[in-house]
Amino acid sequence: MRCDATRLAFFSPTGTTRRIVDNIGLGLGFAVAERLDLTRPECLAAAHASRETVTVLGAPVYAGRLPAEAVRRLKRLHGAGGPAVLVVAYGNRAYEDALLELCDLARELGFTPVAGGAFVGEHSYSAPETPIAPGRPDARDVRAAREFGRVVAAKLERLADLETAAPLRVPGSLPYREAGLSADPGPITVAALCQACGQCVTACPVAAVRLEADGPVTDAARCIRCCACVKGCPEGARLFDHPGLLAVAKRLAATCRERREPETFL
Ligand SMILES: Cc1cc2nc3c(=O)[nH]c(=O)nc-3n(C[C@H](O)[C@H](O)[C@H](O)COP(=O)(O)O)c2cc1C
Repeated sequence: MRCDATRLAFFSPTGTTRRIVDNIGLGLGFAVAERLDLTRPECLAAAHASRETVTVLGAPVYAGRLPAEAVRRLKRLHGAGGPAVLVVAYGNRAYEDALLELCDLARELGFTPVAGGAFVGEHSYSAPETPIAPGRPDARDVRAAREFGRVVAAKLERLADLETAAPLRVPGSLPYREAGLSADPGPITVAALCQACGQCVTACPVAAVRLEADGPVTDAARCIRCCACVKGCPEGARLFDHPGLLAVAKRLAATCRERREPETFL
């Protein structure tokens, strides 16, 4: 089938999903017609939709599912029957039902899923004292993402049309795992380090941080625990100090040491 453009759409609070999606886009080799960073609260619905455009949809894995906020924002897209490549980034533990959920969502939005991949990104809760997949995606992951893009482009070229293609199958089970946020409170600010630059306010995808006279304040009810403000703070002043979350990070750093490789499905 004929494809002449790529559309990239991703939700990526700490940037790993974005890097994987961008490299798959490079591997596909078509002109990028639209690049939608759905992490930004102001990012609106896509304008570009056609059967000749291949859309790469990317989101991180939260507790084996897609983040609810990512689902809400991906729902701004329309597939117009065009092909979609599904991408989840996970922190070297497991992706469980997230890729299946993305595949089902893509179909609901009118896309035809043609390929899917689960890639590894540095865990949002990774820290120097509790490293979990630090530095990923690394050079090897980037090569794998580009190669995946090339293989998908070759598949599309071989396909006579989308209607006759075998439906994409990806791992995951129904009903999906129960979704939910940890009850632990959001990140705090270390006042002695904070320069009140407002980077945490800008980085937050859900507008949960506001700058007050004594520094940034987090609205715990809005916070999705994504760590965008923690990783985005130039002074290292934003951190999680709750014992529950620190214990999770410590456990993951101990149990998720073995390197997982990207898995792709065509
Ligand atoms: C609330 C939350 C839950 C997470 N759950 C999982 C999980 O179930 N499995 C896993 O391997 N990684 C998990 N992660 C790690 C992220 O999936 C991983 O770091 C991903 O690369 C982040 O993507 P981003 O950089 O695009 O934000 C979780 C991260 C957060 C913030």
